[in-house]
Amino acid sequence: MKFDYRENYTVTEAPIIIGLPANFREMDNFEEVDTLLNGLTARIVEEKVLSAEPGVVTTTGVTIQTDYRKVIAVGLGDAAGLDQTDIQRYLGKLFQYLKDTGTKEGQLLMGTFPYDQEKLAEALGLMSVISIYEFESYKTDRGPLFSDEAALLITGSRDVREPVSRGVRLGESIAMARNFSETPPNIMTPEHMADKVAAIFKDRKYISGRVKDDETLEEEGYGLITAVGKASKAKPRLVTIEYKHPSAESCRPVALVGKGVTYDTGGYSIKSKTGMPGMKYDMSGAANVIGMMHAVSELELPVHVVGVIALAENMVDGNGMRPDDVYTSYSGQTVEVKNTDAEGRLVLGDAVFHASQYSPSLIMDFATLTGAVVAALGTKRSGIFTNKKPGFLTPFFDISRETGEEIWQLPITEIEEKNVKSSNIADLTNHVEKPGRASFAACFIKQFANGTPWVHFDIAGTGTASKRTPYGPAGATGVMIHTVVKYLETGDVHE
Ligand code: BES
Ligand code: MN
Ligand code: ZN
Repeated sequence: MKFDYRENYTVTEAPIIIGLPANFREMDNFEEVDTLLNGLTARIVEEKVLSAEPGVVTTTGVTIQTDYRKVIAVGLGDAAGLDQTDIQRYLGKLFQYLKDTGTKEGQLLMGTFPYDQEKLAEALGLMSVISIYEFESYKTDRGPLFSDEAALLITGSRDVREPVSRGVRLGESIAMARNFSETPPNIMTPEHMADKVAAIFKDRKYISGRVKDDETLEEEGYGLITAVGKASKAKPRLVTIEYKHPSAESCRPVALVGKGVTYDTGGYSIKSKTGMPGMKYDMSGAANVIGMMHAVSELELPVHVVGVIALAENMVDGNGMRPDDVYTSYSGQTVEVKNTDAEGRLVLGDAVFHASQYSPSLIMDFATLTGAVVAALGTKRSGIFTNKKPGFLTPFFDISRETGEEIWQLPITEIEEKNVKSSNIADLTNHVEKPGRASFAACFIKQFANGTPWVHFDIAGTGTASKRTPYGPAGATGVMIHTVVKYLETGDVHE
């Protein structure tokens, strides 16, 4: 979507777009709006031609002198109680209205939103991309994307081009992650994904990167990634992207690690015919780390970040892992594989230990890891786990309230510590037949953090949406990109 800015209302053919608070007299520019509505605002709202109900989009036509103009209003409810997630949701609905009705032009009056204009502008940029995101599908009759054709003129007393553009760049990073996740698994193989990442990040400021191929991984002792990937013709890859802003030159990095299982059949512990479809999304943790790195680089945040994406395809053939095999991890710990479908923790074990070699001050990992987290928390909350005291997570909870990406902490205790070490013949086992599987999986990964402060995000329930929401269509969500970028933006990560 193209954005333009003017200080004052401009006469154009395009529909006028306003926010409509229940107490519409709270609008900064009520006089101006009331003039456009021929002094009839009160009547129009009273008779519910335009609705102030939160998130409801309504329209009317007005005559301005002898010209007809369409007015589109998004209800804001009680403006005093508006928070950032409300604003995001209402703007999401507004953009979806524009898309659904093919409204390619509009003039949005910022002053009609009684809300911090800078934060409003950032939400506007973000939601203009993600709410109407659309995967460039393989349908042969596909037309141009609405977002490529739409243009919005923003008018208001404050020049908001900068915050709008920041929102757009974040949104585009989320869209990039979604594109990775949506691409079918016969195309989005580990090698293809690594190549794409290399192409995206080459020649970017402050960025360096390396890709380890399957032979290198095997030689260097990444035994777990190698084991997961070896039944596939599409061989594993480990990609590291390092972003080091000059002002964070001497700081230890924050590491972001993503599970990139480009397809998860389960291996010999094979999934059922209903459990398997959708497993193209099992690389969403990796896709979202790519999105985070892209956003950090686009916004030129003053930070030092290392992104690690662990790519493998979990397939079945004569080379595949068996439930009973033992492998030596990159950390040196041995692992007895009891279930080949518990592959995410294996690739993450090697990837998290690899990340720990950069001496990070914090490791965060993102993974569509367990069905159990979906059973526990549903599809709106990501499970989070840490090897630090609970207070360590406070900044994440604070930021997640602003972004609307809900998180809920789940425990790792002595119970899991004992169970992950219960193999008779190896240091660790990747599976025990006991309930509490999200905590068990998290505890397994914890063994590879090497004592580094670590936070694990299980996004099995939140990595995809089953239906359209104001944040976008059904499918990949790009969850946690917004929250992590805000976390890195707060700046105290390097203290
Ligand atoms: N990728 C799956 C987890 C998953 C399930 C993601 C549903 C999204 C939706 C993971 O690799 C897996 O298979 N986990 C198993 C582990 C079990 C075998 C111990 C699970 O959770 O059932
Ligand atoms: Mn699996
Ligand atoms: Zn998986």
